[in-house]
Amino acid sequence: MKIAVTSASGKLGASIVKHLINLIGKENVIGIARTPEKATYLDVEIRKGDYNSREDFNEALQGVDAVLLVSGMDEPQKRIQQHRNVIEAAKQNGVQKIVYTSIVGDDDKNAFSPIVQSNRQTEKDIQDSGLNWVIGRNGIYIEPDLEYIDTYVKEGRIENCAGQGKCTYTSREELGYAYAKILIEDKHNGYIYNLVGEPVTQSELTENINKVYGTDLIYNSVTVEVYAAERKAALGEFLGTVIAGIYEGIKSGANDVASDYEKAAGREHKSLFDMISNFKAQ
Ligand SMILES: NC(=O)c1ccc[n+]([C@@H]2O[C@H](COP(=O)([O-])OP(=O)(O)OC[C@H]3O[C@@H](n4cnc5c(N)ncnc54)[C@H](OP(=O)(O)O)[C@@H]3O)[C@@H](O)[C@H]2O)c1
Repeated sequence: MKIAVTSASGKLGASIVKHLINLIGKENVIGIARTPEKATYLDVEIRKGDYNSREDFNEALQGVDAVLLVSGMDEPQKRIQQHRNVIEAAKQNGVQKIVYTSIVGDDDKNAFSPIVQSNRQTEKDIQDSGLNWVIGRNGIYIEPDLEYIDTYVKEGRIENCAGQGKCTYTSREELGYAYAKILIEDKHNGYIYNLVGEPVTQSELTENINKVYGTDLIYNSVTVEVYAAERKAALGEFLGTVIAGIYEGIKSGANDVASDYEKAAGREHKSLFDMISNFKAQ
């Protein structure tokens, strides 16, 4: 059995590769990367695959039984065709199963919705492919928040527009394990799973960070308008809009979804406290 993982040079792809190696051995795992030299450290066979190139994937998917498609990073409309390049190449090459890393969120209510919409279109394309399929809808990663800790400490607070909304954070580590299991076990075929942890407010997130890091942060909620303006000034129009849209979604409950993690992974999702502790220990 040969299983290939796209975007293996990225952090999520690498985590999935690592867990697959543990479960089925490195000789059965292939990493596909737009920039292959960034993935050679993974110590598995690496093939070239840029989502813009159908030809790359015609080559890269030869002899592959199952492929994990990591969602792309381009603007939403471009992603749909990029993902289709992988899906079509999988069909043409006799790949048996395709697993897609989608996203939790509302597809029409906030500034993050265009990205959610493009993910939903790829979900549909995957379901229509005729291959065995599984779709994971990922929660928000906790790691980027924790990478921001120095800024939070400097400002003394975590500030965004999520208000009392609950968010089911996960981690790339937790996702990597779940996707490895989903890829190797047939019982998941035909399911859409919410791959998320426990729902927490931003105040609870702040408390957990304080416990692990020994900090004294407070949580401060601001309006969507104020937060969007501040993020756009700091990160530019596209990324600022996306980030503000994510917190707007959290405020309205878009990320307070029931978890299918245990069904997918065969074990409980780690608690928020444990994910933060593991990140700090790295
Ligand atoms: N759930 C969340 O909180 C969350 C947050 C951020 C993003 N995401 C989504 O999750 C995905 C994976 O996240 P990550 O943490 O692994 O991100 P990451 O570490 O930034 O990696 C992004 C990966 O996308 C690859 N890539 C970009 N354009 C590509 C193209 N045209 N063809 C092939 N590969 C391409 C990059 O390849 P190179 O090494 O060649 O640049 C890299 O491997 C993201 O792409 C995004 O769709 C989710």
